[in-house]
This record gives sequence, structure tokens and C-alpha cells, in this order.
Amino acid sequence: MKPLIIVHGGAGALPEIVDGPQAAAQAGLAHLLLHGDPLEAVVEAARVMEDDPRFNAGTGSNLRLDGARIQMDASVMADDGRFGAVMALERTRNPILVARAVIDTPHLMLAGEGAQNLARRLGLPDFDPTTPEARRKFEKWRLENPVVPHDRWRNFPEEMRAHDTIGAVVRGPDGRFAVSCSTGGTTMMLLGRVGDSPIVGAGLYAGPAGAVTATGEGEEIIRRFLSLRVYERMARGESAESAGRAELDAIPAGVAVGLIAAGLDGAWGGSNRQMPFALLTGPA
Ligand code: GLY
Repeated sequence: MKPLIIVHGGAGALPEIVDGPQAAAQAGLAHLLLHGDPLEAVVEAARVMEDDPRFNAGTGSNLRLDGARIQMDASVMADDGRFGAVMALERTRNPILVARAVIDTPHLMLAGEGAQNLARRLGLPDFDPTTPEARRKFEKWRLENPVVPHDRWRNFPEEMRAHDTIGAVVRGPDGRFAVSCSTGGTTMMLLGRVGDSPIVGAGLYAGPAGAVTATGEGEEIIRRFLSLRVYERMARGESAESAGRAELDAIPAGVAVGLIAAGLDGAWGGSNRQMPFALLTGPA
């Protein structure tokens, strides 16, 4: 079977920056061909995307409503059920490396201070992922919304609802699957808000029939357990494209969502917004 990798840069991200997912897909595929492990390949692809400041994950993540803090979510899953996630992780360059390390603990998910402590135990130093562009984005939004009524926080201009989660899906030459995703969340987030990205079945899912990850409005993705729904269609015999399209078509028009999926038949990516993504295959 031909190995493949698909990497996206988020629902709502600009098509012009597709070179980011392309570079990450190349790095992930090279890792897969060298080491043969889909799990480590999706971690590598996500790490490359987290280090690209144009994407809302790792360096370049969105600021919270206080305009000061960045809290990131990331997770990784293999088709044998291995899963690790971090939530609201601060001051760390690569949340995906901490999510990967969670797999080797007795737990599935670590949040906040505990996740940060694990990052330090892994030797990952204190790091501020704030970029001038993230600050500019926040200041623009703040100017347009001088009063922030937290109880009505969804009442903001749609164009500022950036998502840009990153994600990667790999199928190995032996038909094993893995998936990763990482995010700085949406804009307009309260401290402690957790999106879909670290929630198994919502932001991502992998099993023997394939692997899926979602991007976009996390609350809607969680309510739908969107990645699991796409996976279950594939497990019933639908192609990645048919399964992904069916679930994407069911999303209300005002809600930004994107999906990438790989199955035994191939891979597919799509969104109801613009979404840069790259698909690469290797030799059989
Ligand atoms: N999909 C990213 C988030 O809602 O946090």
C-alpha cells in the first residue's frame, strides 16, 4: 500500500500559505519513510507547523481575551487506541511533543500547570509563543470591540473568527494510521477555554479504518463528535471523501469547519471556508 500524509493549515487560513502544509507534509513523509511509524510522522508534521509563525499553533498562537496569555491545545492518536493530549498549555514551543509524551504516562490528557510541568520535565524550556502578528490581530479585534460582554461573547464580527488549527493524518505502508492536531484556539476566548483539538472523537480520531482531524469552530465540532462521525462512515465502507463531504455538508453555513481524512482507499481534505492543505504519497 502506498504511504500517504495529508496536512492542513486551518479552516479560514489563507491559500497563499500552502507552502507551510507542503513543507510539513514533506517532513512527515520523510520521517515515515525513514522510521516507518505513522504516530511519530504525524508528530513531526505537527511540530513543523507549530514552528511556522503564520499558523495558529505553537509559535503564532492566538492571544486570549486578556491580551496577554496564550493557552494551547494539542493531541495525537494512533489506530491502536494510543492517545495523548494537552489542554490550555502555556509557555511551550511545541505542545504536540508534550501530547506525544502523555501517551507514555498512565493518563490520556493533561491540562494547564500539569501539562507545563511535564514539558519542563521533558527538557522543553520556557518559551513565549507570542508573535507581533498575533498581537496585531488581537489589537485589531479589541479596537473593533471596545466593550467585551463575556456573557454575550459570540456577538463579534464574523471576519475576526479565525481558527487556523493545524492537523496531520498519515497512512503507513502497512495500512496503519495516525493523526495529530494542535491549536492556539479561536479568537475571543476566555481563559481556560478548551476547544475540540484535544478531545478524542471531536478534533481527531484514528482506528483501523482510517484517521480524521477537524478544524474550525471547536464548540460545534465537539457537539457533533465530528471526527468520530467521519471515521464511523469510513468503518462502514465509505471512502474518505464521501464520509468527509457528507459530514461537512451537514454543518450550518455560518459555522467554519474543515476536515482531512485518510482511509484504506485514499485521502481527502475539504472545508466550507478556504483551507490550505497538502497531500503527498510515497512509494508502495
Ligand atoms: N478548532 C480549534 C478550536 O476551536 O479551538
